Amino acid sequence: MDSKLPLLLVTAFSLAWTQPQPPTGLRTEYLVNPEVVDVARPRFSWVLEHTERGQRQTAWQILVSTRPEVNVGDVWDSGRVEGAQSTHVTYNGKPLESGRTYYWKVRWWDAAGRASPYSRPACFSMGLLNPTDWKGHWIGGANQLRKEFNLPARPVRARAFISGLGYYELRINGQKVGDHVLDPGWTTYDRRVLYTSYDVTDLLRQGANAVGIILGQGWYGSRAALLQLNIEMEGGQRTEVVTDASWKVRQGPILSDSIYDGETYDARLETPGWDRPGFIDVGWQAATVVDPPKGQLSAQMMPPIRVTDTIVPLKMWSPRPGVYVFDMGQNFAGWCQLRVRGPRGTAVRLRHAELVYDNGTINVENLRRARATDTYILRGDGDEEVWEPRFTYHGFRYVEVTGYPGAPRLDSIRGRVVHTDVKPHGNFVASKQILNRIQHLILWGIRSNLHSVPTDCNQRDERMGWMADAHLYTEPTLWNYDSAAFFANFLRNIRDVQGPDGSVTDTVPHKWGRRPADPAWGAAYPLIAWYLYLYHGDRRVLEDHFEGIKAWTDFQRSQAKDGILSYSYYGDWVPIERTPGELVSTFYYYYSAHLTARMAQILGRKAEAETYAKLADEIREAFNKRFLNPDGTYANRTQTAHTLALYLDLVPKDRRGAVSSHLRDDIVYRNNTHLTTGIIGTKYIMELLTRQGQTHLAYDLATQTSYPSWGYMVENGATTLWELWQNKTGPGMNSHNHPMFGSVGAWFYKALAGIDLDPERPGFERVRIVPGAVRDLEWASGDTETLRGRVLSQWSRTPESFRLEVVIPVGSTAEVHLPKLNNWQDVEVTESGRTVWKADQFASGIPGISAGRQTRDEIILEVGSGRYLFEIRGK
Ligand code: BGC
Repeated sequence: MDSKLPLLLVTAFSLAWTQPQPPTGLRTEYLVNPEVVDVARPRFSWVLEHTERGQRQTAWQILVSTRPEVNVGDVWDSGRVEGAQSTHVTYNGKPLESGRTYYWKVRWWDAAGRASPYSRPACFSMGLLNPTDWKGHWIGGANQLRKEFNLPARPVRARAFISGLGYYELRINGQKVGDHVLDPGWTTYDRRVLYTSYDVTDLLRQGANAVGIILGQGWYGSRAALLQLNIEMEGGQRTEVVTDASWKVRQGPILSDSIYDGETYDARLETPGWDRPGFIDVGWQAATVVDPPKGQLSAQMMPPIRVTDTIVPLKMWSPRPGVYVFDMGQNFAGWCQLRVRGPRGTAVRLRHAELVYDNGTINVENLRRARATDTYILRGDGDEEVWEPRFTYHGFRYVEVTGYPGAPRLDSIRGRVVHTDVKPHGNFVASKQILNRIQHLILWGIRSNLHSVPTDCNQRDERMGWMADAHLYTEPTLWNYDSAAFFANFLRNIRDVQGPDGSVTDTVPHKWGRRPADPAWGAAYPLIAWYLYLYHGDRRVLEDHFEGIKAWTDFQRSQAKDGILSYSYYGDWVPIERTPGELVSTFYYYYSAHLTARMAQILGRKAEAETYAKLADEIREAFNKRFLNPDGTYANRTQTAHTLALYLDLVPKDRRGAVSSHLRDDIVYRNNTHLTTGIIGTKYIMELLTRQGQTHLAYDLATQTSYPSWGYMVENGATTLWELWQNKTGPGMNSHNHPMFGSVGAWFYKALAGIDLDPERPGFERVRIVPGAVRDLEWASGDTETLRGRVLSQWSRTPESFRLEVVIPVGSTAEVHLPKLNNWQDVEVTESGRTVWKADQFASGIPGISAGRQTRDEIILEVGSGRYLFEIRGK
């Protein structure tokens, strides 16, 4: 056999193999194939993959077309553009038209100048961009609305644009359109109203068609709908179907609906066929054209709320005759689906609760005024009736069923998990079981509280976008869920409540709490913008909100006296030991000024960068003058006081050591390794300890199981995070699903799995991998899907060796820290079996690893993109 042949084949194969791969993960404004975009120049992101390590993009080309196959960029052909940018690339073609769908694809050139094949096409649809594009009127009059219309030819393209307040369900020819629930998202309706869009081509047909809308009150408190169907037919004919006075309305089977109190549905009032053509609508009234909500119509550019899971109950029991209690085994946000057969007019009542009494009945004391009760009245036609509510939701683990005809079975109800459908995109898991159980509480806490805005809780008469809660759990949400668009939307909601004086409000939209916000709550504005920049390199978010953030800082300045901001309502909320409110407020005043300066600097606004840096300096001085005691403690010496002072480097250099040891002594000796912090101190203390090289102490706190601790919640049966460190079950403020203590979820990734971000090169362009091999932790693993691709750090150890797997996306670089455990001397490091470090020397030549150095405790390697398997051993 000719020996050259296999060689040739191998060469040909490896040539193809080292080609840059076609881009994947195409996103438009953070979203995968968004149905509605109203940004004139949307931004594109894509993920690069390459079989070689240490790769980066040197050029890219985007084609945007009106045709799905995207053979040519008829609206934009960027041509070959030099550069590494693969996230937030701004569209720069012909003006995008209202209501149209566009398709795009992208290719790239790698470091060696090799071009990749084009990606598969992605798409996005534009919203109705101009107010005059909306042809219909807002209508109302009742909660069920319908209209029939005729299409002379076969529809080839049809889009529905709809907003229905408080909530809507859209139906065409007998079918629900799309899978959104509790749509649209909650906004300050006087400022902004969200609309969504659906492709409804397949639901329409030539001839008679019918469209129906069901309305709920939601947060709006009344009912109104605006719909527009833009239909294109074979032969090029176009028509629009819009809401107007020609629609018919009636009060349907939903007798009442309220977010807090629940829904009552009388199936006897159903009128089958009402959402199909040919229905005889006697008794229906003409719709009323109502005053439109004052707010501007905006595209809902975030994932909708959906039913994301169905839960089968774990157990059922009957504490009293006719009373059945179901345990879903998990606290969550959503509702129940009921299955029942029985006599007409039977009313089955479902009451939702987080807790049960010892006697097995439900405990609803902590729901305060929320009745959380759904009632279904049977139509009783002999068939099994399957029902679930539409326009309410509950936070619960237990359900009490009464009025059920006969005895229900365990599968007579199912839990329906409902929240903004951010896809999970991160994993954290570790050898220490308590951490995984806390992670479970965090994830369910977050899921339960993403309800178009980040809420405080999911069960009682509240569920507000409390701003401190929001910024405290933004970071763990970004690690664990694909949630950038969700938070970008929330930032816009914050801007919508901002007053002319720069003040923002405690809750957004503003319903509870005060204006001006407590400074620790208002901090959500600068902080969430900053996190989006840090995690996603989003500069536009800074551009869009810089003026607003600056105005909020200026507002605080107008309230401050001699650098101290004294007003405070909540301060370090729900702590074990209180910290003076003015210290917390001044800390956040400083944080705002500092971030305003940073943002100004990033945006190239030199004068403002200087002004706010100077302001920050003045606040720092005032802070120390007011709160630093002569003995090197702060204020009343709480953990929070010391943590806040240290976290933002407010402490004068020569006192840092003293303050740090006060903090440590307080944790370890005064409190036997427990926290005394409230929600604010808790977020920063963990990161601070890690930054100070005391991850082991933070770990002791994280794995603590006696009161107060996260582990204490776990040990006491929590399935979500509590509002309080205390295990309370009575009336008043003690929700069992409050995500604000979930800030520790970010620390799991950063400190234990060991993936840290670099603010100078945000969006994971530069990563630090510093595994947290502390105490008895034998292994930990964290990974998250960034806009640039997946980042992973997974480590494990034995007494002899430490192994670390790292994945770094194309275009990113990382500094990888390998610990010399057990005082190892003379260490050797290998990567996939090849030596990288030996006899105090870096061994070059391994692809992707460009340099190495050592400190007393670590070997530090400089790596490019790719997957690496390191092992370090010593003597
Ligand atoms: C909410 C909190 C919120 C707080 C303000 C509570 O009722 O549930 O989470 O931040 O009020 O102090």
